[in-house]
Amino acid sequence: MIKAFSVVAALALCWGAAVAQTAPASVAAPPAVPATAISGIQSQNILEVKPDASEEPGYASQTNGERAKVQPGNNAPMWRQVNSGVAGYSSLPKSEAPEAGVLIQPFVQYPGSRLTNAGEAWHQVRNNWLIPYGGSLLLIVLGAIVLFHVKVGPIKVHGEPTGRLIERFSVFERSAHWANVAAFITLAVSGLVMAFGKFFLLPVMGATLFGWLTYVLKNAHNFAGPLFAVSLLVVIVTFMRDNLPAKGDLAWLLKGGGIFSGHEIDSGRYNAGEKVVFWGGVFVLGITVVVSGLAMDKLLPGLSYDRGTMQIAHMVHSVSNLLMLVMMMGHIYLGTLGTKGAYEGMKTGYVDEIWAEQHHKLWLDDIKAGRIPAQRSPGAAASARAGNAVQV
Ligand code: HEM
Repeated sequence: MIKAFSVVAALALCWGAAVAQTAPASVAAPPAVPATAISGIQSQNILEVKPDASEEPGYASQTNGERAKVQPGNNAPMWRQVNSGVAGYSSLPKSEAPEAGVLIQPFVQYPGSRLTNAGEAWHQVRNNWLIPYGGSLLLIVLGAIVLFHVKVGPIKVHGEPTGRLIERFSVFERSAHWANVAAFITLAVSGLVMAFGKFFLLPVMGATLFGWLTYVLKNAHNFAGPLFAVSLLVVIVTFMRDNLPAKGDLAWLLKGGGIFSGHEIDSGRYNAGEKVVFWGGVFVLGITVVVSGLAMDKLLPGLSYDRGTMQIAHMVHSVSNLLMLVMMMGHIYLGTLGTKGAYEGMKTGYVDEIWAEQHHKLWLDDIKAGRIPAQRSPGAAASARAGNAVQV
């Protein structure tokens, strides 16, 4: 019965369609259906929906389920909870993934950032402070050194070399120093390219080459870091004793070492300026750079390696290595172009007596008085070298 009715209905429809297709052209088209007449699901202006869902009692503290009943599709309670840094459930072990249940970090305000979630706050510190001000600081110090070199010039040796050589650095001291320098230069170059390379290298070499370069340098940085850590410890232990504060250091500092008067203030094996670099640049900043770097390498035992730890380690690392770089720029200048004869001392181990008299008179006095041996390194190589060195 139903089948028969369906067949009849289908035939009627076909007949209707055929009649419509064969209708004469003169028959007027039906008037356009007004928009308001469209039936089915319609949208509504949310601002006109009354009563407003926010008038619900306890609207602000609704759970996502409660909110869905009054405002379907409004997931604000869930996102507010995600944004608050509350850890949700995760089946991953805490030891391996300490933050697996935290999608967005909680709000913090780092020095120099707005109050915002920690990832964004770190981003603001890096991009708005560390990069522009750190870069400017390096350029300003570099400019000051160049200006000083051009205007004041290097500290020359006052007088002719005597030919009498004194052992300033033993083979061990020099190897410790230069091993540390090799790691330091690798870290400094790779670190500078990673931080500032996109401003001065990327436009020149293009993204492909720059990407490869930074990838290689990033690995060189991670490799040189632990080498620097070990050699830094050796340098600290090796040079610590003669960098301890001594009588005359304060006078040296107050008179700026006499660098502008042209008459150097007497000092022991190391002057007070070198001691400031040793304790400030090598000891405090060096250890801070190493510890924060090892944290970023996940090599420090007992730390929870989550994003917050990494962000703080990165900011501490950046600030301390920028300051250390600045101090080391001064050290490198004074150890090469700035002080005639200093580099030879660290290269060969020996300095002329006249150099020692001019720069480290109290040290020379101790040697002359026999309190410090003029020749400290034992062994054949050292003796051969000493053959050249007339004992003072
Ligand atoms: C290219 C880089 C460097 C050069 C050319 C250089 C050069 C020198 C020179 C010539 C001396 C001997 C100064 C004197 O006779 O009183 C010296 C001493 C010293 N350097 Fe360097 N240096 C460099 C990098 C470093 C670095 C990276 C460190 C450690 C982080 C460092 C730590 C020391 C220490 C501890 C001394 C012993 C004197 C003191 O305590 O101030 N140097 N350096």
